Amino acid sequence: MRGVLAICLLQLLLQHYFSGATIFKMTNAVCESYNKSWVEFGVCRLRAISRNKVCLNLDAMLHHPVTNVFVKAQLMKRANGYKPWLYKVNFDGCQFIRRRNSALIRLVWDLFKEFSTINHTCPYVGMQRIRDFHLRTEKLPTPIPTGDYLLLIDWIFNKKTQAATNIYFTFVEDL
Ligand SMILES: *[C@@H]1O[C@H](CO)[C@@H](O)[C@H](O)[C@H]1NC(C)=O
Ligand SMILES: *[C@@H]1O[C@H](CO)[C@@H](O)[C@H](O)[C@H]1NC(C)=O
Repeated sequence: MRGVLAICLLQLLLQHYFSGATIFKMTNAVCESYNKSWVEFGVCRLRAISRNKVCLNLDAMLHHPVTNVFVKAQLMKRANGYKPWLYKVNFDGCQFIRRRNSALIRLVWDLFKEFSTINHTCPYVGMQRIRDFHLRTEKLPTPIPTGDYLLLIDWIFNKKTQAATNIYFTFVEDL
């Protein structure tokens, strides 16, 4: 009898623990180059470490120096297909890296800077890497609504879109 009670209590505790957990993880990653003589993706892959932890590994080879980067980023949220949600930002990547002058972009940057080789000023050339990047709730200043999201990023070098990286992720709020 006491054993059964203990198991019930344990179950309740576990249920409480798991229902209170926030889930914030990537579900898909798509990398596309529109000009392979400039940008070539090697790895562009998610790897599940555990049920709620998924890592992104990405290699992008830049065959020519990139001295001028324009980044077009748009966050979409799923509701009968993906619809634009809240943020759409276009910025000069070389300027951002020099001055860190936008709070919003810094937020995304802070999520992944320590996993990448791109923490230096322009130009970029050769192999660019992201290793074992994963999303961490504690890095978010405020929770976002539960849902499926898509972060679309177009990489514009010399005024033409040369590549795109699209990351799908899911966020489940604390219940
Ligand atoms: C593709 O990349 C090459 C190498 O950097 C560049 O010379 C060329 O202008 C690019 N093509 C387009 C359409 O941007
Ligand atoms: C990124 O570079 C800046 C400036 O060089 C440096 O202060 C900072 O510690 C670097 N951050 C990481 C995570 O390497």
